[in-house]
Amino acid sequence: MAEPAPTARPDLLDTLVSLCKQRGFVFPSSEIYGGISALYDFGPLGVRLRRRIRDSWWRRIVDLRDDIEGIETSIIMNPQTWVASGHVEGFTDPLVDCTSCRRRWRADHIAAERAARGKDPGLMLCPEDDGALTEPRQFNLMFKTYVGPVEDAAAQVYLRPETAQGMFVNFLNVVQAARRRLPFGIAQNGRSFRNEISPGNFIFRLREFEQMELEYFCAPGSDDHWFGYWCAERLSWFVDDLGLRRVNLRLRPHGADELAHYAKAASDIEYLFPFGWGELEGIANRTDFDLRRHQEHSGRDLSYFDAATGERFLPYVIEPAVGVDRIFITLLCDAYDEEVVRGERRVVLRLHPDVAPVQVAVLPLSKRPELVEPAQRIEHDLRQHFATEYDETQSIGRRYRRQDEIGTPLAVTVDFDTLEDHAVTIRERDGMTQVRVPVSGLVDALREQLTLSRARAEQRAGAAAAG
Ligand code: GAP
Repeated sequence: MAEPAPTARPDLLDTLVSLCKQRGFVFPSSEIYGGISALYDFGPLGVRLRRRIRDSWWRRIVDLRDDIEGIETSIIMNPQTWVASGHVEGFTDPLVDCTSCRRRWRADHIAAERAARGKDPGLMLCPEDDGALTEPRQFNLMFKTYVGPVEDAAAQVYLRPETAQGMFVNFLNVVQAARRRLPFGIAQNGRSFRNEISPGNFIFRLREFEQMELEYFCAPGSDDHWFGYWCAERLSWFVDDLGLRRVNLRLRPHGADELAHYAKAASDIEYLFPFGWGELEGIANRTDFDLRRHQEHSGRDLSYFDAATGERFLPYVIEPAVGVDRIFITLLCDAYDEEVVRGERRVVLRLHPDVAPVQVAVLPLSKRPELVEPAQRIEHDLRQHFATEYDETQSIGRRYRRQDEIGTPLAVTVDFDTLEDHAVTIRERDGMTQVRVPVSGLVDALREQLTLSRARAEQRAGAAAAG
């Protein structure tokens, strides 16, 4: 039977906001002062999840490949960088003000914002109170600050709006230091900042966020091949490594009118968010635009010499660029599930075991010292092998529910029988099945269970696409 067409679930975002706060994934930034728009802090579980996202990306993009080097560049760069890249002149959004309520909007978001409030999207009026809007004016999204004690124009700098430029300006350094030949890539992960006019949808569009970007340098003429290659490779990572359901993902090529000024071709990997399809990752063929501009503005020769052909040229660049926060919210949306078990509502995050913040929870049946002591010892030993958590609070049923809610694939229960038979129970999240295993073979048994859990996650991710 064919899978039903995917549908957005508008209420899911509110549910996730409260789950994230309650369970310690995401908190509003500086909340005790009332927070600050589009800025968030990440709690104990959020930090674990972010590390897993970054590690998975780095492993697939850098560690497991022969052709990519990683670097880390500074957030504040010489401001000429942003003149050359086109950001000073063109990194703008059209801004309009409501003449009645004074709210500010992105002119190109008005129709969608009005539609979201059940108002006629065809009218160019304030989505909030139908007030008249000013003419659009261009607003630069880069945050400005100053280096040194004097706040004059000469000292003005920007917080980077993308990590990409740090890699372009280091192109020659990496070629020389790492003795690289084309094709090869430079990857980096780090914070970026954009003074978005209409941020929102929780952590979907933030003012401070984290990017993971790859600049893949290749010979002109081979760029179409590498563009196709990276679109397929990135889609595969989301499904095979992160366990996102294929049916909720699509690759959407940009129309000619949508292309960024630097791009010859671009495709977005989109996800069906609770508010509709939205960009998860962008993949662009940036041609030699960036190297050419930096060459012109810096006066430095950034060309590459191909010893095999004797030719000198500026390489083309394919760029897959994604946000850690964007993946974070996507994973939660995709994994969230509710079911009724024995008359009770069970919330479960069906996260892939390789991204779950906790892989194995260790739970003594009661707080009695004769159970607490062996349970803590077991958890301590398991830390060497898995991401673990020890929990002795509340009833065992509530603790299972909590682990389900944070996506922990396996829980190990230490009970009174353990004292006699030196065995523990492994309970798995998805089917809630239980197996009894000897403590001496626990690590191997958990590894086996995680393999099964991975297989289930892979089936969940891909099965729908086959339907
Ligand atoms: N260097 C190219 C570049 O930065 P982009 O499409 O503007 O391209 C790449 O950004 C990715 O970074 C996006 O697909 C998204 O995942 C993430 N991203 C961009 N702006 C963001 C924001 N304001 N908040 C959270 N993530 C953002």
